[in-house]
Amino acid sequence: MKKDTILTGVRVSDGLTLGNFLGAYVPMANLARKYVKTYRFNAFIPDLHSITTPVDYGGLQKNAMNSIKYYLAAGFDDLRDNENVSFYRQSRLSAHSELAWILDCFATMGEISRMTQYKEKSDGRQESVSVGLFNYPVLMAADILLYDAKYVPVGEDQFQHIELARDLGMRMNKKFGSGDDELFGLPEKTSEQVKFMDLTQGLRIRSLTEPEKKMSKSHESANSKILLDDDPAAAAKKIMSATTDNVGVIQFDMFNQPGVSNLLQILSLLSGVSLSEVVGEWSGKTSYGELKRATATVVEAFLMDFQARVAAISDDEVTLLLEKGEARMRPLTQEKIERVQRAVGLR
Ligand code: TRP
Repeated sequence: MKKDTILTGVRVSDGLTLGNFLGAYVPMANLARKYVKTYRFNAFIPDLHSITTPVDYGGLQKNAMNSIKYYLAAGFDDLRDNENVSFYRQSRLSAHSELAWILDCFATMGEISRMTQYKEKSDGRQESVSVGLFNYPVLMAADILLYDAKYVPVGEDQFQHIELARDLGMRMNKKFGSGDDELFGLPEKTSEQVKFMDLTQGLRIRSLTEPEKKMSKSHESANSKILLDDDPAAAAKKIMSATTDNVGVIQFDMFNQPGVSNLLQILSLLSGVSLSEVVGEWSGKTSYGELKRATATVVEAFLMDFQARVAAISDDEVTLLLEKGEARMRPLTQEKIERVQRAVGLR
Protein backbone atom coordinates (compact mmCIF):
# COMPACT_ATOMS: atom_id res chain seq x y z
CA MET A 1 0.00 0.00 0.00
CA LYS A 2 1.12 3.52 -0.69
CA LYS A 3 2.35 5.34 2.38
CA ASP A 4 0.62 8.55 3.48
CA THR A 5 2.62 11.73 3.26
CA ILE A 6 3.54 14.30 5.87
CA LEU A 7 4.59 17.48 4.13
CA THR A 8 6.11 20.67 5.33
CA GLY A 9 7.60 23.80 3.88
CA VAL A 10 9.18 26.69 5.70
CA ARG A 11 9.28 29.91 3.79
CA VAL A 12 12.93 30.86 3.84
CA SER A 13 14.28 34.30 4.36
CA ASP A 14 17.15 36.04 6.00
CA GLY A 15 17.28 36.08 9.70
CA LEU A 16 15.44 32.99 10.85
CA THR A 17 15.02 33.03 14.59
CA LEU A 18 15.27 30.65 17.48
CA GLY A 19 11.46 30.72 17.38
CA ASN A 20 11.45 29.40 13.81
CA PHE A 21 13.89 26.67 14.73
CA LEU A 22 12.12 25.49 17.87
CA GLY A 23 8.64 26.03 16.45
CA ALA A 24 9.06 24.54 12.97
CA TYR A 25 12.27 22.64 12.31
CA VAL A 26 12.56 20.76 15.59
CA PRO A 27 8.92 19.58 15.80
CA MET A 28 9.17 18.37 12.20
CA ALA A 29 12.33 16.43 12.96
CA ASN A 30 10.66 14.91 16.01
CA LEU A 31 7.66 13.88 13.94
CA ALA A 32 9.92 12.43 11.29
CA ARG A 33 11.81 10.33 13.78
CA LYS A 34 8.59 9.10 15.28
CA TYR A 35 6.85 8.21 12.02
CA VAL A 36 9.57 7.54 9.49
CA LYS A 37 8.60 3.92 9.07
CA THR A 38 4.93 4.56 8.42
CA TYR A 39 4.85 7.82 6.50
CA ARG A 40 6.68 9.57 3.75
CA PHE A 41 8.24 12.85 4.75
CA ASN A 42 8.45 15.70 2.30
CA ALA A 43 10.37 18.72 3.52
CA PHE A 44 10.47 21.22 0.73
CA ILE A 45 11.72 24.74 0.09
CA PRO A 46 8.81 26.92 -1.04
CA ASP A 47 11.10 29.17 -3.03
CA LEU A 48 8.36 30.32 -5.39
CA HIS A 49 6.52 31.59 -2.35
CA SER A 50 9.60 33.56 -1.33
CA ILE A 51 9.29 35.91 -4.28
CA THR A 52 5.67 36.90 -3.67
CA THR A 53 7.00 39.88 -1.73
CA PRO A 54 10.13 41.85 -2.67
CA VAL A 55 13.19 40.09 -1.25
CA ASP A 56 16.94 40.06 -1.61
CA TYR A 57 16.83 37.95 -4.77
CA GLY A 58 20.57 37.38 -4.69
CA GLY A 59 20.23 35.74 -1.28
CA LEU A 60 17.60 33.15 -2.23
CA GLN A 61 20.07 30.34 -2.89
CA LYS A 62 21.93 30.82 0.34
CA ASN A 63 18.72 30.93 2.33
CA ALA A 64 17.53 27.70 0.74
CA MET A 65 20.84 26.02 1.57
CA ASN A 66 20.64 27.21 5.14
CA SER A 67 17.11 25.96 5.52
CA ILE A 68 18.16 22.42 4.61
CA LYS A 69 21.10 22.67 6.97
CA TYR A 70 18.70 23.67 9.74
CA TYR A 71 16.57 20.60 9.04
CA LEU A 72 19.65 18.43 9.29
CA ALA A 73 20.78 20.14 12.49
CA ALA A 74 17.28 19.82 13.95
CA GLY A 75 17.48 16.04 13.83
CA PHE A 76 17.09 14.96 10.22
CA ASP A 77 20.77 14.22 9.91
CA ASP A 78 20.37 10.51 10.62
CA LEU A 79 17.51 10.32 8.14
CA ARG A 80 19.17 11.81 5.11
CA ASP A 81 19.59 8.46 3.39
CA ASN A 82 16.16 7.20 4.34
CA GLU A 83 14.09 6.59 1.23
CA ASN A 84 10.95 7.90 2.95
CA VAL A 85 12.50 11.30 3.56
CA SER A 86 12.81 13.77 0.69
CA PHE A 87 14.08 17.32 0.46
CA TYR A 88 13.33 19.33 -2.65
CA ARG A 89 12.84 22.80 -4.10
CA GLN A 90 9.41 23.80 -5.32
CA SER A 91 10.90 25.73 -8.25
CA ARG A 92 12.66 22.63 -9.59
CA LEU A 93 9.49 20.56 -9.91
CA SER A 94 7.43 22.34 -12.52
CA ALA A 95 4.27 20.41 -11.64
CA HIS A 96 3.80 22.71 -8.62
CA SER A 97 3.33 25.70 -10.91
CA GLU A 98 1.30 23.76 -13.42
CA LEU A 99 -1.12 22.48 -10.81
CA ALA A 100 -1.37 25.93 -9.25
CA TRP A 101 -2.59 27.31 -12.57
CA ILE A 102 -5.25 24.66 -12.95
CA LEU A 103 -6.42 25.18 -9.37
CA ASP A 104 -6.50 28.92 -10.05
CA CYS A 105 -9.19 28.25 -12.59
CA PHE A 106 -11.39 26.61 -9.95
CA ALA A 107 -10.68 28.90 -7.00
CA THR A 108 -12.91 31.94 -6.77
CA MET A 109 -11.98 35.58 -6.26
CA GLY A 110 -14.39 35.56 -3.32
CA GLU A 111 -12.70 32.79 -1.41
CA ILE A 112 -9.17 33.98 -2.06
CA SER A 113 -10.13 37.52 -1.06
CA ARG A 114 -11.14 36.15 2.31
CA MET A 115 -7.64 34.87 3.03
CA THR A 116 -6.23 37.08 5.73
CA GLN A 117 -2.49 36.75 5.17
CA TYR A 118 -2.23 38.84 2.04
CA LYS A 119 -4.30 41.53 3.70
CA GLU A 120 -1.90 41.60 6.64
CA LYS A 121 1.21 41.48 4.51
CA SER A 122 -0.11 44.15 2.20
CA ASP A 123 -0.54 46.59 5.08
CA GLY A 124 -3.79 47.88 3.65
CA ARG A 125 -2.16 48.70 0.31
CA GLN A 126 -3.84 45.92 -1.59
CA GLU A 127 -3.71 47.77 -4.89
CA SER A 128 0.06 47.58 -5.05
CA VAL A 129 0.93 44.10 -3.77
CA SER A 130 1.82 41.40 -6.27
CA VAL A 131 -0.77 39.10 -7.77
CA GLY A 132 1.53 36.33 -6.54
CA LEU A 133 0.95 37.32 -2.94
CA PHE A 134 -2.80 37.28 -3.51
CA ASN A 135 -2.50 33.92 -5.19
CA TYR A 136 -0.12 32.43 -2.66
CA PRO A 137 -2.72 30.16 -1.01
CA VAL A 138 -3.54 28.48 -4.32
CA LEU A 139 0.11 27.64 -4.94
CA MET A 140 0.24 26.30 -1.41
CA ALA A 141 -2.81 24.14 -2.12
CA ALA A 142 -0.97 22.79 -5.17
CA ASP A 143 2.09 22.00 -3.01
CA ILE A 144 -0.13 19.89 -0.79
CA LEU A 145 -2.50 18.27 -3.29
CA LEU A 146 0.25 17.33 -5.72
CA TYR A 147 1.40 14.75 -3.16
CA ASP A 148 -2.00 13.89 -1.64
CA ALA A 149 -0.41 14.99 1.63
CA LYS A 150 -2.39 13.96 4.67
CA TYR A 151 -0.60 15.89 7.39
CA VAL A 152 0.84 19.34 6.93
CA PRO A 153 2.41 20.58 10.16
CA VAL A 154 2.21 24.36 10.12
CA GLY A 155 1.57 27.20 12.53
CA GLU A 156 -1.85 28.60 13.25
CA ASP A 157 -1.34 31.43 10.79
CA GLN A 158 -1.45 28.84 8.01
CA PHE A 159 -4.60 26.96 9.05
CA GLN A 160 -6.78 28.95 6.72
CA HIS A 161 -4.58 27.85 3.83
CA ILE A 162 -4.85 24.19 4.77
CA GLU A 163 -8.62 24.49 4.82
CA LEU A 164 -8.50 26.10 1.38
CA ALA A 165 -6.42 23.19 0.07
CA ARG A 166 -9.07 20.83 1.43
CA ASP A 167 -11.87 22.81 -0.16
CA LEU A 168 -10.17 22.99 -3.54
CA GLY A 169 -9.28 19.30 -3.43
CA MET A 170 -12.84 18.36 -2.53
CA ARG A 171 -14.24 20.58 -5.25
CA MET A 172 -12.00 18.96 -7.86
CA ASN A 173 -12.78 15.47 -6.60
CA LYS A 174 -16.48 16.12 -6.81
CA LYS A 175 -16.25 17.54 -10.30
CA PHE A 176 -13.67 15.21 -11.79
CA GLY A 177 -13.13 12.25 -9.47
CA SER A 178 -14.65 8.91 -10.18
CA GLY A 179 -16.02 7.23 -7.09
CA ASP A 180 -13.34 5.53 -5.07
CA ASP A 181 -10.63 6.64 -7.45
CA GLU A 182 -10.35 10.19 -6.20
CA LEU A 183 -8.25 12.74 -8.02
CA PHE A 184 -6.68 14.06 -4.82
CA GLY A 185 -6.10 12.69 -1.36
CA LEU A 186 -7.03 15.49 1.03
CA PRO A 187 -5.15 16.97 3.95
CA GLU A 188 -6.84 16.33 7.27
CA LYS A 189 -8.87 19.12 8.87
CA THR A 190 -6.71 21.47 10.90
CA SER A 191 -8.29 20.22 14.13
CA GLU A 192 -6.95 16.75 13.27
CA GLN A 193 -3.60 18.18 12.25
CA VAL A 194 -3.20 19.73 15.66
CA LYS A 195 -3.90 16.42 17.38
CA PHE A 196 -1.42 14.64 15.17
CA MET A 197 1.30 17.19 15.83
CA ASP A 198 0.72 16.80 19.53
CA LEU A 199 2.04 20.25 20.26
CA THR A 200 0.92 20.18 23.85
CA GLN A 201 3.51 22.78 24.76
CA GLY A 202 1.76 25.27 22.49
CA LEU A 203 5.02 26.03 20.80
CA ARG A 204 5.20 29.73 20.33
CA ILE A 205 8.43 31.34 21.33
CA ARG A 206 7.67 34.93 22.27
CA SER A 207 9.39 38.19 21.55
CA LEU A 208 11.95 39.06 24.22
CA THR A 209 10.88 42.69 24.32
CA GLU A 210 7.11 42.30 23.84
CA PRO A 211 6.43 38.80 25.15
CA GLU A 212 2.73 38.98 24.46
CA LYS A 213 3.70 38.73 20.77
CA LYS A 214 5.43 35.93 18.93
CA MET A 215 9.18 36.15 18.27
CA SER A 216 9.27 37.36 14.69
CA LYS A 217 12.04 37.72 12.18
CA SER A 218 10.32 40.80 10.82
CA HIS A 219 10.28 42.62 14.16
CA GLU A 220 12.52 45.67 13.91
CA SER A 221 14.12 45.51 17.33
CA ALA A 222 17.21 43.26 17.30
CA ASN A 223 16.76 42.71 21.04
CA SER A 224 13.34 41.17 20.52
CA LYS A 225 14.68 38.06 18.80
CA ILE A 226 17.50 35.55 18.84
CA LEU A 227 18.72 34.99 15.30
CA LEU A 228 20.17 31.61 14.47
CA ASP A 229 23.33 33.31 13.30
CA ASP A 230 23.61 35.68 16.25
CA ASP A 231 26.91 35.80 18.07
CA PRO A 232 26.27 33.45 21.03
CA ALA A 233 27.54 35.90 23.66
CA ALA A 234 25.43 38.71 22.21
CA ALA A 235 22.40 36.42 22.24
CA ALA A 236 22.98 35.70 25.92
CA LYS A 237 22.93 39.46 26.57
CA LYS A 238 19.56 39.72 24.83
CA ILE A 239 18.16 37.13 27.22
CA MET A 240 19.56 39.08 30.16
CA SER A 241 17.70 42.17 29.00
CA ALA A 242 14.43 40.38 28.22
CA THR A 243 11.22 42.03 29.37
CA THR A 244 9.60 40.29 32.33
CA ASP A 245 6.94 41.68 34.68
CA ASN A 246 6.57 43.08 38.16
CA VAL A 247 4.75 40.17 39.76
CA GLY A 248 7.97 39.23 41.52
CA VAL A 249 7.43 35.45 41.62
CA ILE A 250 8.28 32.95 38.90
CA GLN A 251 5.22 31.06 37.61
CA PHE A 252 4.31 29.53 34.28
CA ASP A 253 1.44 31.69 33.18
CA MET A 254 1.57 32.71 29.53
CA PHE A 255 -1.32 35.08 29.99
CA ASN A 256 -0.23 37.13 32.99
CA GLN A 257 3.53 36.50 32.90
CA PRO A 258 4.39 35.88 29.27
CA GLY A 259 8.00 37.05 29.60
CA VAL A 260 8.91 34.75 32.47
CA SER A 261 6.94 31.88 30.91
CA ASN A 262 8.78 32.36 27.64
CA LEU A 263 12.13 32.04 29.43
CA LEU A 264 10.94 28.84 31.12
CA GLN A 265 9.87 27.47 27.77
CA ILE A 266 13.18 28.30 26.09
CA LEU A 267 15.07 26.82 29.02
CA SER A 268 13.06 23.61 28.80
CA LEU A 269 13.39 23.20 25.05
CA LEU A 270 17.10 23.90 24.89
CA SER A 271 18.07 21.87 27.92
CA GLY A 272 15.93 18.90 26.90
CA VAL A 273 14.19 18.87 30.27
CA SER A 274 10.39 18.69 30.20
CA LEU A 275 8.50 21.88 30.79
CA SER A 276 6.79 20.49 33.87
CA GLU A 277 10.14 19.67 35.43
CA VAL A 278 11.56 23.08 34.64
CA VAL A 279 8.45 24.77 35.99
CA GLY A 280 8.62 22.57 39.08
CA GLU A 281 12.19 23.64 39.69
CA TRP A 282 11.64 27.37 39.25
CA SER A 283 8.09 28.01 40.45
CA GLY A 284 7.90 30.19 43.52
CA LYS A 285 11.46 31.48 43.24
CA THR A 286 11.77 35.23 43.15
CA SER A 287 15.02 35.97 41.33
CA TYR A 288 14.22 36.76 37.72
CA GLY A 289 17.94 37.47 37.28
CA GLU A 290 18.82 33.90 38.15
CA LEU A 291 16.26 32.54 35.68
CA LYS A 292 17.67 34.83 33.01
CA ARG A 293 21.22 33.69 33.71
CA ALA A 294 20.23 30.04 33.47
CA THR A 295 18.38 30.66 30.20
CA ALA A 296 21.17 32.81 28.78
CA THR A 297 23.67 30.04 29.50
CA VAL A 298 21.70 27.40 27.60
CA VAL A 299 21.01 29.77 24.72
CA GLU A 300 24.70 30.57 24.38
CA ALA A 301 25.70 26.90 24.52
CA PHE A 302 22.98 25.95 22.07
CA LEU A 303 24.02 28.56 19.51
CA MET A 304 27.68 27.59 19.72
CA ASP A 305 26.88 23.95 19.11
CA PHE A 306 24.23 24.67 16.47
CA GLN A 307 26.41 27.03 14.47
CA ALA A 308 29.30 24.56 14.52
CA ARG A 309 27.04 21.78 13.26
CA VAL A 310 25.61 23.97 10.50
CA ALA A 311 29.09 25.09 9.45
CA ALA A 312 30.16 21.46 9.14
CA ILE A 313 27.55 20.77 6.43
CA SER A 314 28.80 21.78 3.00
CA ASP A 315 26.75 23.39 0.26
CA ASP A 316 27.73 20.54 -2.03
CA GLU A 317 26.23 17.87 0.15
CA VAL A 318 23.04 19.90 0.48
CA THR A 319 22.84 20.26 -3.30
CA LEU A 320 23.24 16.52 -3.70
CA LEU A 321 20.54 15.87 -1.14
CA LEU A 322 18.15 18.24 -2.93
CA GLU A 323 18.90 16.72 -6.31
CA LYS A 324 18.26 13.27 -4.94
CA GLY A 325 14.90 14.35 -3.52
CA GLU A 326 13.94 16.12 -6.73
CA ALA A 327 14.84 13.10 -8.85
CA ARG A 328 12.66 10.94 -6.59
CA MET A 329 9.72 13.35 -6.72
CA ARG A 330 9.82 14.22 -10.41
CA PRO A 331 8.11 11.07 -11.75
CA LEU A 332 5.46 11.16 -9.02
CA THR A 333 4.60 14.78 -9.63
CA GLN A 334 4.65 14.28 -13.36
CA GLU A 335 2.22 11.41 -13.10
CA LYS A 336 -0.08 13.47 -10.92
CA ILE A 337 -0.13 16.53 -13.11
CA GLU A 338 -0.84 14.40 -16.17
CA ARG A 339 -3.71 12.76 -14.36
CA VAL A 340 -5.14 16.16 -13.48
CA GLN A 341 -4.69 17.38 -17.04
CA ARG A 342 -6.55 14.33 -18.25
CA ALA A 343 -9.31 14.87 -15.71
CA VAL A 344 -9.96 18.44 -16.79
CA GLY A 345 -9.79 17.53 -20.46
CA LEU A 346 -6.37 18.90 -21.36
CA ARG A 347 -5.14 15.49 -22.46
N1 TRP B 1 2.96 29.27 3.62
C1 TRP B 1 3.98 28.60 4.37
C2 TRP B 1 4.66 29.63 5.30
O1 TRP B 1 4.46 30.81 5.17
C3 TRP B 1 5.01 27.96 3.48
C4 TRP B 1 4.39 26.97 2.57
C5 TRP B 1 4.19 27.09 1.24
C6 TRP B 1 3.88 25.71 2.93
N2 TRP B 1 3.60 25.98 0.72
C7 TRP B 1 3.39 25.12 1.75
C8 TRP B 1 3.80 25.03 4.14
C9 TRP B 1 2.81 23.86 1.76
C10 TRP B 1 3.21 23.77 4.15
C11 TRP B 1 2.72 23.19 2.96
O2 TRP B 1 5.43 29.24 6.14
